[in-house]
Amino acid sequence: MSFTIAIDGPAASGKGTISKGVAAHFGFAHLDTGLLYRAVGHRMLAGEDPVAAAQALTAEDLDRDGLRTADVAQAASKVAVIGEVRAALVDFQRAFARRAGGAVLDGRDIGTVICPEAEVKLFVTASPEVRAERRWKELTGNGFDVRYDDVLADVRARDDRDSTRAEAPMRPAEDAVELDTSEMDIETALAAALAVVADRMPGD
Ligand code: DC
Repeated sequence: MSFTIAIDGPAASGKGTISKGVAAHFGFAHLDTGLLYRAVGHRMLAGEDPVAAAQALTAEDLDRDGLRTADVAQAASKVAVIGEVRAALVDFQRAFARRAGGAVLDGRDIGTVICPEAEVKLFVTASPEVRAERRWKELTGNGFDVRYDDVLADVRARDDRDSTRAEAPMRPAEDAVELDTSEMDIETALAAALAVVADRMPGD
């Protein structure tokens, strides 16, 4: 059986934590597709051509240290506007989505471009201010000395680039269920997502 759950949305919306929780709950595999773009961004920062890097990407690239930094996030968002980079990553994502036993993929274009036939589509959002505050708390909690205003500016720059690009811009699929987590803690948001998924699971 293949069953695909597509979870899209902007940075720090809660989609990563929700995706992990949904996958764990149903025993599905999980792919954070942002890591693919981060791995390409990381290789670009090291001087490689991003298209060649995307075409040569291997599973080991996804385990690399340093993919979670702010610099790599911005580089990921920049390489993600390149059509040939996106094209090189499609087959891997689609094969993952169709694996037996069910799959959760999170990203920006899963419900619209990668898996338009996904059985469940969620679009997870929150206001830029709330998302910047979450990211700021996470970064300062991990010992990084960053200013809230800079984190907010980064969030806005990435939102803008991701949602206005010509290729596969970030937007909810027409049949996606939108979940605004601005006023929710993570437990509430996960419970809401699980309810949406459970509703669409084949009955037993
Ligand atoms: O989800 P993330 O913050 O790790 O994603 C990093 C960048 O990668 C994001 O700013 C845009 C790009 N991305 C994309 O274009 N499409 C995806 N499916 C996932 C990420």
